[in-house]
Amino acid sequence: MFKDEGFFKKYYSYFIKGTVTTMFLAVLSVIPGIVLGTFLALMRLSKQRGLKLLSTIYIEFVRGTPLMAQVFIIFFGSTVLGFELSAFNASIVALGLNSAAYVAEIIRAGIQSIDVGQWEASSSLGMNQSQVMRLIILPQAVKNILPAFGNELVTIVKESSIVSVIGVTELMFQAGVVQGASFKPFLPIAIVSLIYFVLTFTLSRAVNYYERKLSISG
Ligand code: ARG
Repeated sequence: MFKDEGFFKKYYSYFIKGTVTTMFLAVLSVIPGIVLGTFLALMRLSKQRGLKLLSTIYIEFVRGTPLMAQVFIIFFGSTVLGFELSAFNASIVALGLNSAAYVAEIIRAGIQSIDVGQWEASSSLGMNQSQVMRLIILPQAVKNILPAFGNELVTIVKESSIVSVIGVTELMFQAGVVQGASFKPFLPIAIVSLIYFVLTFTLSRAVNYYERKLSISG
């Protein structure tokens, strides 16, 4: 391997570009994922059966089909419907829609983890439903929800590797490019794995730190 100094000189820029694209993919898809996921969670918790059904179907469908299939559906489906999404944009949409279903479940679980007694006690003090939610339930639920959001970001960083199948030049795709150009099957994969690990490990340390801060504040 040490004979390979030329390897790094030749190919380092592929890894850097891939890392930047992977980070963009993760951040740009987690944000719409959180917004849509919040709506889906509220729909699923609502008493209106239509809304509940709609969001349940969405969540179960997304969680019950492979992300890879969803990426293809959005990418090729956009062409069928007459507007062509670039591979990068299709990936953001697919990852965002996918993440939303998982985020919805995180939020739902977070809200449902708060004892019903809190609802009853707050209502008996004369608060209406939205006051109970805003003032009593959410501030407590947030302690379960925020760390799980961090884990979702970690998951998205790793899962974004799937969009290499439609040619987005993220980290995994670049590994393939370097494999082909250098005729080395192992080294590029080992390098990108290490990069993924550095990204996810840093993120999860940050999440842990944040979690500890939250638990200190009561
Ligand atoms: N790889 C799995 C799949 O194909 C998991 C996706 C997880 N997604 C998430 N946003 N947590 O479905």
